[in-house]
Amino acid sequence: MARLACVLHLSLTVALVPPVARPPSHVVCSGAAYDYCIQSLGCTAKEAAKAEGKLLPRTAESLTRAQIDCVCNWLQSELELSDVELRTFVLRAPSLLSCYVETNLAPTLEWFRSTLDLGDAELKKFLIRRPPLLGCSIEANLAPKLEWLQTTLDLRDLELKKLGRNPVVLGLSIEDNMAPKLEWLQRRLDLDVEQLKKILLIKPNLLAYSIEENMEPTLTWLQTRLGLDTAQLRKAVLIKPQLLGYSVEKKMKPNLDWVQMRLDLEEEQLKKMVAGSPSLLGYNIEDNIEPKLRWLQSRFDLNNAELTCMLTSLPTLLHLNIEKNLEPKLRFFERELGIACVDIRARVIRKPPLLTYSLAKRYQPRLKVCRAAGADPVIVLNSTSKTDAEFCKRLNVPLEALRAAQEDV
Ligand SMILES: *[C@@H]1O[C@H](CO)[C@@H](O)[C@H](O)[C@H]1NC(C)=O
Repeated sequence: MARLACVLHLSLTVALVPPVARPPSHVVCSGAAYDYCIQSLGCTAKEAAKAEGKLLPRTAESLTRAQIDCVCNWLQSELELSDVELRTFVLRAPSLLSCYVETNLAPTLEWFRSTLDLGDAELKKFLIRRPPLLGCSIEANLAPKLEWLQTTLDLRDLELKKLGRNPVVLGLSIEDNMAPKLEWLQRRLDLDVEQLKKILLIKPNLLAYSIEENMEPTLTWLQTRLGLDTAQLRKAVLIKPQLLGYSVEKKMKPNLDWVQMRLDLEEEQLKKMVAGSPSLLGYNIEDNIEPKLRWLQSRFDLNNAELTCMLTSLPTLLHLNIEKNLEPKLRFFERELGIACVDIRARVIRKPPLLTYSLAKRYQPRLKVCRAAGADPVIVLNSTSKTDAEFCKRLNVPLEALRAAQEDV
């Protein structure tokens, strides 16, 4: 009744106002969605108007408070949304307010839960990242999309679930987005389906990147800067698909320039380093690379040339965490294997990969077997590059002894 009066009042006002002074046509009398946003969600008038504006005018008019309450109460209890989360949800997907819980929202929620195998917390997180998904049709939209992905990328069920759990993916259109992008990627990098799939499973979000504004300029720049052929470019992308989203100006160019200068690298050395560790392109120099270089340099007392030599031969050294990985390993060499600092330094310079083997999976079980066999623990470090079988042969113990130690650690 109040609503009718309101409409009536507005049309009277409009009729009385001379044409020039008429308010713009989108400023209609606000409906239940608008009121709900203001009264129950604490939105500003602007937010409420924007949310209501996303509804079809006829829907906005006919929507009742009871309907909205029903949807929102259900949402809040099913997904355990806080008031703030509910507000975000409604503002991002106001059209949900006009959906029916029983015939619409509940079945879709159930579909996500079972098809993507999501627990309650995961389901909530998934939908909060993309609330409009809850309003999508299963038959016309969601299910065909998954089916298309599975066929196109030859995905196993688990892989399909992994891809589908990324809310960005299900929000994209096949014709406008996914199909042309996959086709472009495949052509640009000369990928087979297996490789295409690998890239997407690591970085599903790249389906949302723009080809013209993002991926193509990034690849072209990288290719030119480092003189990479398609195979080298493909290899870098396969190792680090994320690089397709890196900004040239903000990330890749400053990183490469900095590394080249800091380590005094020839073009060919720089290229080799990036090929070995494409992650370098996206690292934060100040927080990550520079402290690591300084640490390596002071920990092993390296001059610049020695540092450069070490990193060009093993760029992945930059991936290792100092506190969690490198320091404990060095302590282990000193304390458990009884190797003197100067000796460690000499060994690391001669053979940097010493630093990359896993403490828990490689060094510790081998030490255990060594001790049990009464052998000199130094052998653990002398034979790092040997296979498990070769190591056991050297100690003259059965391979099973090492396997048991590996289980144990
Ligand atoms: C370990 O290697 C060092 C240097 O390479 C060598 O001097 C030493 O004899 C080796 N020790 C054992 C037990 O293999």
